[in-house]
Amino acid sequence: MSVKPVIYLKDYTAPKFQIDSIALRFDLEAESTRVTSLLKVRRHPDFPEATQLQLDGHESLELVGLRLNGQVPDSSLVRRQGEQLLLDPVPEVFDLEIETRLYPAENTALEGLYLSDDMYCTQCEAEGFRRITFYPDRPDVMSVFSTTLVADKARFPILLSNGNPVEQGDLDGGRHWVTWQDPFPKPAYLFALVAGDLSCLEDHFITASGRRVALQIYAERKDLEKLEHAMTALKNAMRWDEQVYGREYDLDIYMIVAVDFFNMGAMENKGLNIFNTACVLAHPRTTTDAGFQRVESVVAHEYFHNWSGNRVTCRDWFQLSLKEGFTVFRDQSFSADMHSAPVQRVDEVAILRTAQFAEDAGPMAHPVRPASFIEISNFYTLTVYEKGAAVVRMLHTLLGAETFRKGTDLYFDRHDGQAVTTDDFVKAMEDVSGRDLTQFKRWYSQAGTPRLEVTDEYDAVAQRYLLTVRQSCPPTPEQSEKVPFHLPLSVGLLRADGQPFILATGQTTQLLEVTQAEQTFCFDGIDEQPLPSLLRDFSAPVKLSYAYTQQQLRFLLQHDEDGFNRWDAGQQLSMRLVQQLIESFQRGEALALPKDYIDTWKALLQNASEDPAMSALLLTLPSEAYISENAAVIDPVAIHHVRQFMRKTLAEALESSWLRVYQQHDGEQAYSPEAAEIARRSLRNTCLGYLMALDSPAHLALAQQQFETSDNMTDQFAALVSVAHSGFRDSADDILTEFLNQWQHESLVMNQWLMVQSTDPRPGALSRVKQLLEHPVYDSRNPNKIRAVIAAFCQQNAVNFHAEDASGYRFLADHILLLDKQNPQIAARLLTPLTRWRRYAPARQAQMQAQLQRIIDTGNLSGDVYEVVSKSLK
Ligand code: ARG
Ligand code: ZN
Repeated sequence: MSVKPVIYLKDYTAPKFQIDSIALRFDLEAESTRVTSLLKVRRHPDFPEATQLQLDGHESLELVGLRLNGQVPDSSLVRRQGEQLLLDPVPEVFDLEIETRLYPAENTALEGLYLSDDMYCTQCEAEGFRRITFYPDRPDVMSVFSTTLVADKARFPILLSNGNPVEQGDLDGGRHWVTWQDPFPKPAYLFALVAGDLSCLEDHFITASGRRVALQIYAERKDLEKLEHAMTALKNAMRWDEQVYGREYDLDIYMIVAVDFFNMGAMENKGLNIFNTACVLAHPRTTTDAGFQRVESVVAHEYFHNWSGNRVTCRDWFQLSLKEGFTVFRDQSFSADMHSAPVQRVDEVAILRTAQFAEDAGPMAHPVRPASFIEISNFYTLTVYEKGAAVVRMLHTLLGAETFRKGTDLYFDRHDGQAVTTDDFVKAMEDVSGRDLTQFKRWYSQAGTPRLEVTDEYDAVAQRYLLTVRQSCPPTPEQSEKVPFHLPLSVGLLRADGQPFILATGQTTQLLEVTQAEQTFCFDGIDEQPLPSLLRDFSAPVKLSYAYTQQQLRFLLQHDEDGFNRWDAGQQLSMRLVQQLIESFQRGEALALPKDYIDTWKALLQNASEDPAMSALLLTLPSEAYISENAAVIDPVAIHHVRQFMRKTLAEALESSWLRVYQQHDGEQAYSPEAAEIARRSLRNTCLGYLMALDSPAHLALAQQQFETSDNMTDQFAALVSVAHSGFRDSADDILTEFLNQWQHESLVMNQWLMVQSTDPRPGALSRVKQLLEHPVYDSRNPNKIRAVIAAFCQQNAVNFHAEDASGYRFLADHILLLDKQNPQIAARLLTPLTRWRRYAPARQAQMQAQLQRIIDTGNLSGDVYEVVSKSLK
């Protein structure tokens, strides 16, 4: 087995040679691409003794020619060793010319230069550039790039790369060329090129200092009408970053290109972002509200990287969260400003608490700044992104908005043009605040989700209230012992009439700084027994427990001024019931919902119009994934059954209310993507979902009517899901066929169509999924299709994936083995559900382990898949 070595943060050494400039030339020919690269190399003054130049190059990379100062070097000076090309000895300053040949049409890994339909494009982060040419492919080597593209003019009229276009011309044989120059030194992972027959939406932006920036979003001609939303988002993001962070855009042109074949969401290449079509195209007819919001936040995310990532980049890949955690925090703050902040917060926390907490509890658990890896692609994780963002948010909370802004100003100013570490980021925060953040930095080095146990005591005579906080953190791989974290615990206290106490700070919310394993906080002048509202706005990524009674949770749900905590009180109320019902189900008892629980929902429905977006969230039961994450032993059948039972019972008990709220929120005007309208649709479709749980022909007619008459994908899709997952089998088939006929030429809509079927919880899902893999709209090379069918089935259809005969596990292992040959990054990502085997009962554990073992026993795995499987079996 060709196993790649483990790389350790502690082994980091600075680069011995720097590259003053790189001039690239790409000849895009019919069968292959010839790449010439001219490097101006200079030994770093810190290493006067160094004679060996180390270049990275993927094992498959074809070296055609090499010249050092114009001469072919003696073959004894050049050695290829694994992923490296070594030249030794080399002079202090020299020119190096390298010619390589690539086969983009055969590149199914979608790293380096590849074809997406008829378009050439690149993905270089993290280590794709080494599939293009031999180069020090590490983020701390920054250079000035110029790129010439040469291609057939008719097939590839548009030739793009980073920076500004500086020269172009025509050649014989119908070919043409364009040269691009990027004045900002950058690491190779930010390099990009695009060649194709593309249409473009153009606009411009005037920066705060009055410079004009041309904005161009490219896509296939048929998708031109789907680019407006991304353009608006881009302009909003540019303005927001000026206003909130004082960051202006730096080049004269900003380009985004939409491609259909893409491993991830999008990529922040300098001046030339490349996007998965799913994250940039949006049109009311074909895109749901969730899709619109995703486009807005990903466009903003990639734009924000221009400062947090590009101008200041990472020293090495262990520092990935330096740019990703910070940039996710920035895009979350942007979305909160564009929409409802508490609703946005609930969405973020839901992801963190289900998927990231599950990662922390599994075999791939790692700190926000990992200490080692085999394949860096495996570390583009929820921990690095979402928990990393939560860590930056805690700094913002601890220091306050104003000091935090001073800190980011200092960070950008001090490190502009540099490749730095998370320690440098925290140092800037220390310098502006005068605080010692040594203990806080444990968030970067310790993995796992901390537990907070909170107890309290009220002394009526002394009018004193005491909150005691105990923290602990469970062991994670390679970290059995943990030391206490420093975290902000935001609290409020409620009076018996629901009014908040004014606390010592003069505010109704107070920030407690937890730093010790056990700590008691004292509130004076508390003249009646208070009810605490803890961890407001989810001020730290922890699991907090406090022994609330049901009645207290209902009280918080009604009175807490913190929108997030109101929602969370509702979730806790439901979670308790879920846990009891799961036990009843496992004992074979009949299930029932208590009357006061139903009454709580009735009240929520009664007031739903006051804040429709928040109400839709409050009226949604904890997801199966969240219930699983919180279970001692995951029983997917019980979880599914209980949740469905609760839905159906709530639907029955409150049928007329669901119907009334549904009808009250019928939209009159044409579709608009405004917040109020999104909220209205969200609440209305939540109601439709409950009504459809009743298997009543009258409600079926309602859903069908909504499907036929809606003018937008949000409403049409909600109706589709509700019918397709219902007990009305013939109607389900009919509506799916109708949807297919209507949208078969819209690739992104077809992903949704595939996904509805893969996530259908009714029996027989696996055989339907296997049929989908044969369907003409499926494409086994396209990551979006793989995600819509295989990943959706294995991750969002637990009751079928975990079938007792292990058919789901075998299916997944079969496809991982196939995909590993084609696209290792995607194959490794698909493994996630199998890695969680320890969370299940012994029978399932054995079945899941057996499939992991089967994968590893085949040998000859990619480093990506090998790393995940071997760590999971440990
Ligand atoms: N930097 C990109 C972002 O904005 C993600 C790139 C991920 N690439 C990869 N090969 N894993 O989040
Ligand atoms: Zn990013």
